[in-house]
Amino acid sequence: MHTGNKVIDESKQGEALMVETKNEQGKKLFLESYGCQMNFSDSEIVASILTDKGYTTTKNFEEADVIFVNTCAIRENAESRVRQRLQDFKKVKQKNPHAVIGVLGCMAERLKSQFLDQEKLLDIVVGPDAYRDLPNLLEQADSGQKAVNVILSKEETYADITPVRLDSNGISAFISITRGCDNMCSFCVVPFTRGRERSRDPESIVAEAKDLFNRGYREVTLLGQNVDSYLWAGGGLKKEVLTEEQKAKAVSFSKLLEMVALVNPDLRVRFSTSHPKDMTDEVLYVMAKYENICKYVHLPVQSGSSRVLDIMNRGYTREWYLNRIAAIKRIMPDCGISTDVITGFCSETEEEHQETMSLMRLVQYDFAYMFMYSERPKTLAERKFKDDIPEEVKKRRLQEVVSLQHEHSAIKTKAGIGKIHRVLVEGVSKKSTEQLSGRNTQNIIVVFDKGNHKKGDYVNVLVERCTMTTLIGRVVD
Ligand code: SAH
Ligand code: SF4
Ligand code: F3S
Repeated sequence: MHTGNKVIDESKQGEALMVETKNEQGKKLFLESYGCQMNFSDSEIVASILTDKGYTTTKNFEEADVIFVNTCAIRENAESRVRQRLQDFKKVKQKNPHAVIGVLGCMAERLKSQFLDQEKLLDIVVGPDAYRDLPNLLEQADSGQKAVNVILSKEETYADITPVRLDSNGISAFISITRGCDNMCSFCVVPFTRGRERSRDPESIVAEAKDLFNRGYREVTLLGQNVDSYLWAGGGLKKEVLTEEQKAKAVSFSKLLEMVALVNPDLRVRFSTSHPKDMTDEVLYVMAKYENICKYVHLPVQSGSSRVLDIMNRGYTREWYLNRIAAIKRIMPDCGISTDVITGFCSETEEEHQETMSLMRLVQYDFAYMFMYSERPKTLAERKFKDDIPEEVKKRRLQEVVSLQHEHSAIKTKAGIGKIHRVLVEGVSKKSTEQLSGRNTQNIIVVFDKGNHKKGDYVNVLVERCTMTTLIGRVVD
């Protein structure tokens, strides 16, 4: 996901985010989040649960009574960054022995109580499905005991909790629609850290979107590890046990997308992540039908080789993937497309790496997140395959993929010059307070002179020039 709004995605960008709410009363909580948008969205749930209990937040961890780090386990370097950061927090504990330090999220789930042995000054370890238990765990920690809850749930969706929007621009917000993942891609730790996939009640999703719109928000991003597998057939009914008739009546992702699009034509709708094996034409037709559903699909390919995709357990071939791309381009010729790529997965040959490069040339992505393979404990790949591609080969392949993508991004951005783009204004531009910035439907950042416009407005911008990733122009209406 691009970082037009302030959420920074550690899984992709390697950055962390600190958050603060306004209330100055009560015990002080410092909350730092790493990882994907789901984790940031979860931090907003955590903030909601704890502000309800009288906690307030601070940006300064040195004055905090409680320090929480919401962690990511997707690659080894995501984990090492958290460990380094914990060293800073431990210093607080030396000064203030009553301070509580807790680790939340995927790394907590992966390491469970082992984490307490590894990091002696940790007090709390909480997995992503146990945040309702935080007030109890904090009480336990206050009484001097170590507290752990890493129970994964088949039902928890936090549907009834209104997230406290953290570090928000007041315009864009995330809404979680599914939790967990059932796909078991062989390289991926997420099914182990986030548990079984479950969908959230569509009524609660629509209500959250309506509430956001009424509070001035103009864009929602529906979040799930695989949004296309969203299915709601009524509380407690699991996808696997549904009859064909129940399935036909159930709310699918395309239906949900339509329901959210209908909240208001001035509410933009985005979503992430689409899965190539499950993305249907129906979803694409709903996108095409509603102006306010952004014409942008993030469709991670991971590899351009069918053999590698097979051992990655992705559930599609190169041909299937290219067929999905063709469907997007046919149904929405102007749709922005981005992807994720992994280089140097177990046994990947030079030819197979070239297949990834050739697929990228065929698709010409607007944007891509690219990673070297990082072996994760417990995954299928760790158990079945050898992590046999030397680091320097993984790195070189990554560099090749990155420079090819740079070429494509530059071509794609340039193609925006001379055209009028409808932009949702998200705030002042990073470089000048005299300029505003927002994104077009394809998720590309557009910068223009402020005039009388403000955050939350829709403006038409004639683009005159660009950098590699940003369009620059002037308002024409
Ligand atoms: N649910 C999403 C991906 C979530 S993780 C999907 O299926 O597309 C985000 C990205 O991190 C993945 O798309 C993948 O490219 C990358 N990733 C996941 N596990 C990885 C690993 N072990 N090593 C390197 N990259 C990994
Ligand atoms: Fe991981 Fe695959 Fe699930 Fe994505 S779909 S979260 S890559 S297991
Ligand atoms: Fe990381 Fe967990 Fe997200 S492992 S990418 S924070 S689901």
